[in-house]
Amino acid sequence: MSVWAVLAAAGRGERLGDDKPKVFARLGDLPLLAEPLRRLEESDWVEQIVIAAPPGWEEPCILLAEEIGAGKVASVVAGGATRIASVEFALAEVADDAAVVLVHDAARPLLPDDVVERVLAPLSEGWDGAVPALPIADTVKRIRGDEVVETLDREGLVVTQTPQAFVAESLHGAFSPSNGLSQDGGGATDCSSLVEAHGGRIKVVPGDARLLKVTTPGDLELVASWL
Ligand code: CTP
Ligand code: MG
Repeated sequence: MSVWAVLAAAGRGERLGDDKPKVFARLGDLPLLAEPLRRLEESDWVEQIVIAAPPGWEEPCILLAEEIGAGKVASVVAGGATRIASVEFALAEVADDAAVVLVHDAARPLLPDDVVERVLAPLSEGWDGAVPALPIADTVKRIRGDEVVETLDREGLVVTQTPQAFVAESLHGAFSPSNGLSQDGGGATDCSSLVEAHGGRIKVVPGDARLLKVTTPGDLELVASWL
């Protein structure tokens, strides 16, 4: 099973508020991007990696990959205006003979290899994709402005993370122009939702709290303390 990884790293990191893109914020001794990249490089499951880089930052991404010896990086492309567009551009660089595509947010630097294993396993059991998820501990409410409209039944609700794994054909199908995908992916914030909308069956597997997405400076501190 030939597995290619797409690393979505093209975001600006506005909520982190640095003058550089989020993936170039310091995490330990290196830019944040080094951490998920090294983990994908070291994973026996992953064959090749495509990075969607912040536009204009392709060269620093290539240099960083060289610096950490990430020889699996097949290509670095400039990302798009949305995460979905960035993944779409990276997907174009995935080899035609790739059987599986693993899509991961670079903003979730602490990628445990057992989660990679967990999302890949269902693909050999007939599933089109698999996503890691965590149960919701808090009470979930729908709001309008600052007013509560409704309290949702959290039974049956989970929060999902990346890496998300897909049969390559299913992911390509979900991104194909014939799917009527608009420029922003219809506002989709993950790849699974596109595959779901295209009729794909997605399995949920246990996620990992260490896969916290770095959004704010506090998140960066927290993840740094877990290194
Ligand atoms: N991402 C991407 N291309 C975009 C936007 C986001 O590849 N146009 C990636 C980010 O690099 C990140 C992941 O998608 O790894 C999740 O996005 P998010 O956490 O929202 O990161 P940013 O968009 O960088 O942050 P912000 O929304 O605060 O600007
Ligand atoms: Mg964003």
